[in-house]
Amino acid sequence: MTEIAFSRPYFGPEEEAAAAAAVRSGWVVGGPRLRELEAGFARLGGAAEGIGVSSWTTGGFLLLKELGIGPGDEVIVPSLTFIASVNVIVHVGATPVFADIDPATYNIDPADIEHRITPRTKAILPVDQIGLPCEIDRINEIAARHGLLVIQDAACSIGSRFRGRPVGALARATIFSLHARKLVTTGEGGMILTDDAELAARLRRQRHQGMSLSDFDRHGASPTTFETYPEIGYNFRITDVQAGIGVVQLGRLPEMLALRRRVAERYTAALSNHPWLVPPHVPAHVEPNWQSYQVRLRPEAPLSRNALMEALHAEGVPTRRGVMASHLEAPYRAAAPALPHTEAAAAECLLLPIHPGLDDAAVEAVLAAIDRAFAAAPRR
Ligand SMILES: Cc1ncc(COP(=O)(O)O)c(C=O)c1O
Repeated sequence: MTEIAFSRPYFGPEEEAAAAAAVRSGWVVGGPRLRELEAGFARLGGAAEGIGVSSWTTGGFLLLKELGIGPGDEVIVPSLTFIASVNVIVHVGATPVFADIDPATYNIDPADIEHRITPRTKAILPVDQIGLPCEIDRINEIAARHGLLVIQDAACSIGSRFRGRPVGALARATIFSLHARKLVTTGEGGMILTDDAELAARLRRQRHQGMSLSDFDRHGASPTTFETYPEIGYNFRITDVQAGIGVVQLGRLPEMLALRRRVAERYTAALSNHPWLVPPHVPAHVEPNWQSYQVRLRPEAPLSRNALMEALHAEGVPTRRGVMASHLEAPYRAAAPALPHTEAAAAECLLLPIHPGLDDAAVEAVLAAIDRAFAAAPRR
């Protein structure tokens, strides 16, 4: 049997050629490929501006800071997310306030957001967990009622749709990750989308040490123009080698979405009446990109989540635990409230292999390994 990968970038000769072309051109950072990638993301997400950064994390930090969020402010965030969503709130000196999830979708529960609002609340940072868009319309409505900002953590949801609209321009600002596990990847990287041109200009300056003029603009300027540094910034740049790869990846997004959907549909067909596993629930108004395929063990299952992962590992099927509960990690544990739905999901879920290169034989092998693991389980 060929080796089954849990996740794998979908790269081909086009990405190799794009990286080589950037190297050959001499524009390896701050050049035309970055412009192209930013424009491509903005078009796809339906936003006016795209700002490429070195990761979701650096982009998230910068965005919160530029939106004026800092010490004394509270930001409501789900605990059931990769811990980066929470860490950036602390990085700007603000306080993360954890909200519980809707156990059906694993996304932040809008009703619980309402319970967590205080006079210090400044923003809501909902996450499109496992690539499934959060209830952004309800969240925007709550935010508007309370005068809060909404920043959508779309690290996992490039290509997903909510009520027919692409993720990208559904909040004040949206951030995608281009990390190796994401659909569109440049190894590392991030992309902020917003309709606010003034905010975009500030973010572009800040990612480059606060410089008044980009390298690209300075390069083309005649007569010679000198940049200034009116404010203190950072180096959060993404390279043009990465951007070149990203442009090709964006072009292949429809193909990658279709291939992932095929894997997900086969898993769901096989698991939808499973006695012990619960496949993901997809509400009728959302279209996920199938970034992850998360299944949940029913309480009466004869195997624990970890035992099932071990049994699959022994069969050559790699899995990962489901999305983590950030509030149970050491930096956040002491101050965190009880979040029953989050804690249960974090304990009972696992992720099955999914990526565009996972062929039908591999999918059947995963399903067969699941059957064997349960058949060999001791009866309770
Ligand atoms: C929901 C979520 N937010 C943020 C991040 C951080 O992204 P990056 O690794 O690009 O900083 C991730 C990465 O996996 C994520 O899944």
